[in-house]
Amino acid sequence: MEEKKQTSTFQTRTWPRRIIFWMAAAIVMGRLHFGGFLPKRWVFPGNPQAQVSPYGPFPQEKDPFQFLPCTNASRPPPLDDPTPRQSWAALFDPNPSHWSWGSTGGIYLCGYLDLPLDYHNSSDPRIVRIAVTKFQVAGLAHINSPSASSHRSKRTIIINPGGPGGSGTAFLWQRAEEMTNRFSDGQLDVLGWDPRGVNFSLPAAACFPHDAFRDRWSLLALRYREEAQKSQLETVDAMNNATFFACQQRLGDFGRFVSTASVARDLEEIRKALGEDEVTGYLVSYGTGIGQTYVNMFPTRAGRLILDGTEYVRDHRLLGGFGWTALDNTTDAWRDGFLGECINAGPKWCSLANPAPNQDGPVILTQLEARMNQLLESLKARPQSAYTESGGPSLVTYSALVERILYPAMYRPMDWPRTAQMLSELEAGNATLAAESLDLSWSDHSEEPSYPQLPSSSELDLLVICSDAYDAPLPDGLDWWDQLWETMSNRSWIAGNSRFFSVLPCRHYSTYWGRPSEVYRGDLNHTLTTPALLIASPYDPATPLHNGRRLLAEMDQNARLIVNHAYGHSSMRDRSDCTDGIAKAYILNGTLPDEQEVQCYANSKPYVNGSVSDE
Ligand SMILES: *[C@@H]1O[C@H](CO)[C@@H](O)[C@H](O)[C@H]1NC(C)=O
Ligand SMILES: *[C@@H]1O[C@H](CO)[C@@H](O)[C@H](O)[C@H]1NC(C)=O
Ligand SMILES: *[C@@H]1O[C@H](CO)[C@@H](O)[C@H](O)[C@H]1NC(C)=O
Ligand SMILES: *[C@@H]1O[C@H](CO)[C@@H](O)[C@H](O)[C@H]1NC(C)=O
Ligand SMILES: *[C@@H]1O[C@H](CO)[C@@H](O)[C@H](O)[C@H]1NC(C)=O
Ligand SMILES: *[C@@H]1O[C@H](CO)[C@@H](O)[C@H](O)[C@H]1NC(C)=O
Ligand SMILES: *[C@@H]1O[C@H](CO)[C@@H](O)[C@H](O)[C@H]1NC(C)=O
Ligand SMILES: *[C@@H]1O[C@H](CO)[C@@H](O)[C@H](O)[C@H]1NC(C)=O
Ligand SMILES: *[C@@H]1O[C@H](CO)[C@@H](O)[C@H](O)[C@H]1NC(C)=O
Ligand SMILES: *[C@@H]1O[C@H](CO)[C@@H](O)[C@H](O)[C@H]1NC(C)=O
Repeated sequence: MEEKKQTSTFQTRTWPRRIIFWMAAAIVMGRLHFGGFLPKRWVFPGNPQAQVSPYGPFPQEKDPFQFLPCTNASRPPPLDDPTPRQSWAALFDPNPSHWSWGSTGGIYLCGYLDLPLDYHNSSDPRIVRIAVTKFQVAGLAHINSPSASSHRSKRTIIINPGGPGGSGTAFLWQRAEEMTNRFSDGQLDVLGWDPRGVNFSLPAAACFPHDAFRDRWSLLALRYREEAQKSQLETVDAMNNATFFACQQRLGDFGRFVSTASVARDLEEIRKALGEDEVTGYLVSYGTGIGQTYVNMFPTRAGRLILDGTEYVRDHRLLGGFGWTALDNTTDAWRDGFLGECINAGPKWCSLANPAPNQDGPVILTQLEARMNQLLESLKARPQSAYTESGGPSLVTYSALVERILYPAMYRPMDWPRTAQMLSELEAGNATLAAESLDLSWSDHSEEPSYPQLPSSSELDLLVICSDAYDAPLPDGLDWWDQLWETMSNRSWIAGNSRFFSVLPCRHYSTYWGRPSEVYRGDLNHTLTTPALLIASPYDPATPLHNGRRLLAEMDQNARLIVNHAYGHSSMRDRSDCTDGIAKAYILNGTLPDEQEVQCYANSKPYVNGSVSDE
């Protein structure tokens, strides 16, 4: 489960917005690497036409991924390009100073794979074009080097960030170097792919022509039950119908081909293209759903697979299951984690640990909780007006604050000090920081001159969630959904609404797409060549430990579970040497704990010393 947009809430939120710096970094690295020595044009003896670099020509012959050293132009060619391979090869820039080099000599390679749109209809000629990016730790073989060895590592760590809808290529750019160090002491390559429908893969599941239109749209929908008028459910339901209608207009029957089972088949094709006998991987959040599905569809291909932030993919077969099975520990994370650790850390590290003006003595948890409830109640009664320099007039509503700042913050303990600061200023009547944070949660409408802005593929997550549950019996009318909304928002004020809105659209899936090409409905206890390593955290706000344990119970001897006692979503954000050590021994050596379940603890506490960080 992952990512920014309004309708669903999963792992990497856009707040605070990351700055894309790799293009600049690539140029700098290139300079460092070559010390300014740049030959004009290299001649390759066998093939005078080919653009050749000091590392030979690209793409290399017989490379199924057509890898090129990445530049800022490396985007797979459009589906209607009659000669995609030629267009792609023409993007090769032979000047190594334009490439993206890692900090220790690794190289980023960009490629794509054309795969069947429908794996179950050989007379359907349509394809999906899957964007793939690899970080090759050993760099590239120089054209004059005696060994023509490929510089590929023995295994490749295939990664997926979750979502559905998370971009594996973006995840790779952010974290490949950290991940190869974390899991393999920098020995193994890392590969990320944009799942069908996502980001640079084609077609991209964007049902709005511009992100600004989606923002405008979500303003109308962003009304939690606590703030909603009676007619709100009808409004949002009509909006969902309109969204799916638009998706069908723009993407035709594509919604039939994005289920998790289809994605698992793509992963199998990626394995084949890598030429590896089994899949090694680090799959996070909804990615663990891809992993569970994959290993049970292809049990002999199960290699060393870490499933971090574990879902129980069976839940997604149920109507609304993707939503209501995620809520267990979301308010625990707020109370014990965000507020409790704030008090433990004290006012030096957390501004909410300062007593309110009318209070004596040190702050205690029940008081702080009551103060926050009061603040939230006041926003329900009347939103707070605000002003920001970048956005002009601004409004801090209860729904926007919870949806776009507070629930996302539960994913990311490194955001807690700033979030606490924002809440304490808001409590004191200053909404500027809150408004600035909200501004950042919308898409960036400013022009990016060097990067043509395509609309983001945000509707993909709904299509995946709904196709995985397409055959769950659908009650008539909206009464059942209204009950579900009430139950979920009662259960978790911080996550219930958000999760509800991520499943409500499923009411309309069958109207537009009928039956997905394939869903996986089998058991999850197939005998695997290699048991999987699950990681789940007691305070995870998206993938509760309970779900990891239920998966473990079904997988039995085919899995081990690390209970990662740390905050945030997955084990990436609040690190534990214990968890990392087990993960590394598994990825590098195939070693697993003897016990089915082991306990690991975070290295540090949030807030204090700025110690919880993922960078
Ligand atoms: C298979 O593809 C062909 C060609 O696109 C199409 O006419 C046919 O309806 C498809 N069959 C199924 C079962 O989807
Ligand atoms: C798409 O992928 C590129 C890198 O491959 C990344 O820079 C960009 O942020 C991604 N976009 C989204 C919306 O994930
Ligand atoms: C769904 O949207 C379509 C297109 O606007 C419209 O024709 C249809 O009546 C809508 N159905 C419902 C149930 O709202
Ligand atoms: C997580 O939620 C479950 C189910 O509500 C509960 O039993 C468990 O104690 C919670 N864990 C924590 C750390 O609060
Ligand atoms: C309100 O908060 C902003 C951001 O923290 C700060 O720059 C500003 O000075 C504050 N305004 C007042 C009146 O305290
Ligand atoms: C790539 O970056 C270079 C400068 O580094 C710029 O001149 C060029 O226009 C960019 N190309 C694209 C497709 O963004
Ligand atoms: C939700 O909470 C309200 C207020 O406490 C209560 O009246 C209602 O019965 C609850 N509804 C459900 C479905 O739990
Ligand atoms: C998997 O579980 C089912 C029951 O859900 C059982 O019938 C089947 O024998 C199990 N398969 C294996 C390989 O253990
Ligand atoms: C992997 O195995 C080798 C050889 O037994 C050992 O030296 C090394 O410490 C192991 N690495 C990890 C991370 O367990
Ligand atoms: C924070 O840093 C100080 C000084 O380096 C150290 O003494 C203290 O143990 C650290 N506290 C925590 C909780 O890490």
